[in-house]
Amino acid sequence: MSTNTEDNKRKVTTSRLIEMKCRGEKIAMLTAYDYSMAKLIDEAGMDVILVGDSASNVMAGNITTLPMTLDQMIYHAKSVVKGTSRALVVCDMPFGTYQGNSKEALASAIRIMKESHAEAVKMEGGSEIRESIERILSAGIPVMGHLGLTPQSINKFGTYAVRAKEEAEAAKLIQDAKMLEEIGCFALVLEKIPATLATKVAQEVSIPVIGIGAGGGVDGQVLVMHDMLGINKGFSPKFLRRYADLSTIINEAVSHYIDDVKTSDFPSESEQY
Ligand code: KIV
Repeated sequence: MSTNTEDNKRKVTTSRLIEMKCRGEKIAMLTAYDYSMAKLIDEAGMDVILVGDSASNVMAGNITTLPMTLDQMIYHAKSVVKGTSRALVVCDMPFGTYQGNSKEALASAIRIMKESHAEAVKMEGGSEIRESIERILSAGIPVMGHLGLTPQSINKFGTYAVRAKEEAEAAKLIQDAKMLEEIGCFALVLEKIPATLATKVAQEVSIPVIGIGAGGGVDGQVLVMHDMLGINKGFSPKFLRRYADLSTIINEAVSHYIDDVKTSDFPSESEQY
């Protein structure tokens, strides 16, 4: 644990995140997709673990997040929940499971909650998906919004470049953020937008705003675990800070193991029965 006070051992809930924003305490969020990593991340004191549909990229090797299915998200979320005791676990709703109609959206969210035991869902988009978000909220399922760069819409925009640089798009984003707050979302992710715009949104809404590539003026930060731990070194956007070089550590350890097997150094006398 980063700090060891009693308060820091307390389970993180959606209302606790809102309290954190009120106190000016920053919120740390990181993705995880499996039991073992979720356990390590939770034990380190993470506030929110996001079972992101970035699993499509970093776990399944796809180019976009679009192929992820509801069954796959539930599988990952179920594993993460088993490894987590303190952090709030939020599961992404995958592409195609909530954009069609609100009944289908609710059915998808209910499956996530019932089968994975995640505590909230995250959905990409604003006014276009308002009806689906409202229906899910009305069933008592907490929803985290996601605006700015929304990777599930990559085929519409054709690029992962910074969003909302133009006035019209920035105005729509602010309007959507306020709408998400008003209908009852408990938090909001802003991805890859100008820092000044993200700061303005964080100041104008009462719910926590978690940024990724959105500067330091928001209420918290989220990164993809594989990127920040240096497992996935092929992705180096300006906003990414690498906290470890696990790809080098793993490569060295695995090469060492291969050498030991090839030279019959492993197993030794003490490593056998
Ligand atoms: O899927 C994901 O990992 C995400 C984060 C980048 C916010 O949505």
